[in-house]
Amino acid sequence: MNVHNKPNEPVLDSYWMPFTANRQFKAAPRLLASAEGMYYTSADGRQVLDGTAGLWCVNAGHGRRQIASAVERQLTQLDFAPSFQMGHPIAFDFAERLAEIAPGPDGAKLDRVFYTGSGSESVDTALKMAIAYQRAIGQGTRTRLIGRERGYHGVGFGGISVGGILNNRRVFPQLAGSDHLRHTHDLAKNAFVKGQPEHGVELADDLERLVALHGAETIAACIVEPVAGSTGVLIPPKGYLEKLRAICDKHGILLIFDEVITGFGRLGAAFATDYFGVTPDLVTTAKGLTNGAIPMGAVFASRKVHDALMHGPENAIELFHGYTYSGHPAACAAGIVTLDIYRDEGLLTRAADLEDDWQTAMHSLKGLPHVIDIRTIGLIAGIELASRDGAPGTRAYDVFVDCFEKGLLIRVTGDIIAFSPPLIAEKKHFEDIVSILGDALKRAA
Ligand SMILES: Cc1ncc(COP(=O)(O)O)c(C=O)c1O
Repeated sequence: MNVHNKPNEPVLDSYWMPFTANRQFKAAPRLLASAEGMYYTSADGRQVLDGTAGLWCVNAGHGRRQIASAVERQLTQLDFAPSFQMGHPIAFDFAERLAEIAPGPDGAKLDRVFYTGSGSESVDTALKMAIAYQRAIGQGTRTRLIGRERGYHGVGFGGISVGGILNNRRVFPQLAGSDHLRHTHDLAKNAFVKGQPEHGVELADDLERLVALHGAETIAACIVEPVAGSTGVLIPPKGYLEKLRAICDKHGILLIFDEVITGFGRLGAAFATDYFGVTPDLVTTAKGLTNGAIPMGAVFASRKVHDALMHGPENAIELFHGYTYSGHPAACAAGIVTLDIYRDEGLLTRAADLEDDWQTAMHSLKGLPHVIDIRTIGLIAGIELASRDGAPGTRAYDVFVDCFEKGLLIRVTGDIIAFSPPLIAEKKHFEDIVSILGDALKRAA
């Protein structure tokens, strides 16, 4: 707070903001002060409809008192406990609850749960698990990790190595040997599609090409987002994920789904794994795990991966990996209540009920200025705008600022607008999104 201690006027100098154009932002800040249900309230007192569930996190909507109370109770009872060679009951309780809804079919659920503090940590954890698994089964030469162009897997060195976003990679060194499939985005063939596009299944064969290039005996795992979010909502073509699974099986490669945004109901099933009916070996999560209230991530591992590592002398640590905040009591408390809310309000499948209205609303924006594609799945939409000549990203950014001023929070990446509203949304919210965004598009130069 500044010297006058006015609540809405913080001093902006010291905070180095993440993934933000700091100087531009600080010249004209956008500050959120509180939140309830589907709405933020800005620091200057305006209601802002949350079109993005924060950052794909707040699936049950904002201001859930049950979560706040559970966290308060937990902090009073046991604020912190070490999780290395020690345990505390709520971490086990939460894992049992997660195991009940774990991704995968009954009988083959990925019901072994490893806690992390974020999506990035979940990704690096899963990549390490994959390499450790291969070594444990006598495949120690398999250390190569395969990702995909335009993939986003957080910002750890593992995550940026398999990720495929140039700006996240160009300044930093990457893990030796990591390689990439091509992305599946093809506007020429797949524009304005509802749900999974028809064209592009053959792009999964890229994995065969990488096997031919590097040798299967060097590849530990392949990681993809079932629906890529951060590079602008890329929906897998029909048959693509199935084909990736088959190629992985054929060559002894583990398949990892990064479900940091698709986990916990975003598509209308608990996980994209269930929605698409394709079961990977590891699933990374975060965000909706605690409704965004307390930072936490989790990796769901198959019994195959988990059990392969439960070998050797019983006094040996099986996986030399973990975080101080793995299984933090307050995060577990938030997570258990979050699961209660999801269950009691049917939120993990609600996107399926909303999907028709959502698609109709989003696709009604077709024909507005600059719109070159609209794609939707579950309660997600990507709206792609034509870029300004020589100034990519500026048009969508202007629309983003305009929408915020008119009371709607959207997310932009390049010239693509991504929507992922809380799963408590109703039809009237879709209408408001269409109306505010539509007007902003008409105003955009
Ligand atoms: C698919 C995916 N993986 C990983 C991450 C990284 O998560 P975090 O920012 O919690 O580290 C994100 C964040 O948006 C994501 O969308």
